[in-house]
Amino acid sequence: MDYQAKTHHPEKQKTDCIVIPVFAKQSLSPIGEQIDKTSQGHLKKVLRQGDFDGDLGQTLLLYNMPHIASERVLLMGCGDPKELKESDYRKILQSTFSTIKNGGAKQAIFYLQDLTPNQRNFHWKIRQAIEVIEACLYQFDQFKSKKNNKAKTLNEIVFHADNAAEINTAKKAIEESVAITKGIYRTKNLGNLPSNVCTPTYLANQAKELAKKYKTLKVNILEEAEMKKLNMGALLSVSQGSREPAKLICIEYKGSSKNQKPIVLVGKGITFDSGGISLKPSGGMDEMKYDMGGAATVMGTLTAIAELKLPLHVIGVMACAENMPGGNASKPGDIVTTMSGQTVEILNTDAEGRLVLCDALTYCKKFKPHTIIDIATLTGAVIVALGTHASGIMGNDPELIQELLKAADKSSDRAWQLPVWEEYGANMQSNFADFANANVGDRNAGAITAAWFLSRFTKEYRWAHIDIAGVAWNSGKEKGATGRPVSLLTQFLLDQV
Ligand code: BES
Ligand code: MN
Ligand code: ZN
Repeated sequence: MDYQAKTHHPEKQKTDCIVIPVFAKQSLSPIGEQIDKTSQGHLKKVLRQGDFDGDLGQTLLLYNMPHIASERVLLMGCGDPKELKESDYRKILQSTFSTIKNGGAKQAIFYLQDLTPNQRNFHWKIRQAIEVIEACLYQFDQFKSKKNNKAKTLNEIVFHADNAAEINTAKKAIEESVAITKGIYRTKNLGNLPSNVCTPTYLANQAKELAKKYKTLKVNILEEAEMKKLNMGALLSVSQGSREPAKLICIEYKGSSKNQKPIVLVGKGITFDSGGISLKPSGGMDEMKYDMGGAATVMGTLTAIAELKLPLHVIGVMACAENMPGGNASKPGDIVTTMSGQTVEILNTDAEGRLVLCDALTYCKKFKPHTIIDIATLTGAVIVALGTHASGIMGNDPELIQELLKAADKSSDRAWQLPVWEEYGANMQSNFADFANANVGDRNAGAITAAWFLSRFTKEYRWAHIDIAGVAWNSGKEKGATGRPVSLLTQFLLDQV
């Protein structure tokens, strides 16, 4: 899809389709009034026929309106303008776009001026519009023998801008969201791939491909032998039950020649989480192919910032392994020594994410990081706490957490803070090692105790942890990866420039 920003007169503009808002009870926006006037009352006449009230998400496509240059006028139902929420705005765009995406129009001009969800600005509206449209266009059909390769007619979306300043705003927003949606596509594709294709080795090859595409990226992959030399006993204990070797994938992005300390993004890359010997129940286990959603988010975010050529120093580290039961798998009660020297009693082999992450976090010391952010589908407990609406953010630096929350708000890729008070660690005591990786029997505050575990390995850093178990995946009919939180992280990085 091609996106443009231009100034148009809605009634005079020759195009395939103009898209204008109509509010509840058929109340017209200023643009609607203008169209009605030019069409000599045709619009109101149509509305009087009663097929369209302007309810939220309703659409009506009109053809050949008198004296209107555009072939089509698409009415988007926007509900009560005073009640308009951000999620309503997304819903409006989704149904509007779905109405025309398979039709005959090649170009559509959107008039969004009269929509102000929660006082959001024009930049936000365009960013959201493009994210919604690209989500509607996304298809994952590489394993379908019959593909839907009907060529799409609609190939250009124009956002009407009132003046030169708005055109500039829109252009910037378009540039950002085109890059972000490229990242989201990559993250979704990786998350949707089955685990018999998307193994740690596959992810390592994808990283190499990415570095071929963008000259600003450099890849370094650590094999198990090297991890062993570095004493990554926790990470290796996860992959030891699987035929698939673990990979620690590092991608360095250098967008400026300045010597900046890097921002390091660490992603959990469990390509399948069976639970190991602490086997998960079989219902829904297929979904554990997305347990590499953190790693996929790192890959997607690096794609977005490489597209945007941000003048930053960012390193992505992906801790990739498969968690399987087997003759060589670690067993409850096993004790491992982490790269940091601290010992861990593995009371639950299903708490494997923290085991791969802790060694990856210790490894990051060599980068002398400015900031470390880890992203992980770490706990079911974060879904109990926040559902699928918000990522859980924890960490040891209040300022960093505020920056992330601000980016989450700006991008509407929502997140919410949970505390990591020292007291939560009481749950993780071990009689045999320095601490345990889980507490059998007490599941309270599971998202936080997981973060507490990670905090044992990040004391020297400005660190935040994002638990994305709830947001990275849709279950049910819309089953599949969401591409979250690429938008949040890219916004965070945009704000660092
Ligand atoms: N990958 C899971 C967390 C998860 C659960 C992600 C549901 C997405 C949806 C993680 O490895 C895990 O199994 N966590 C355990 C931790 C527990 C054993 C302490 C959990 O959340 O139950
Ligand atoms: Mn697990
Ligand atoms: Zn897991």
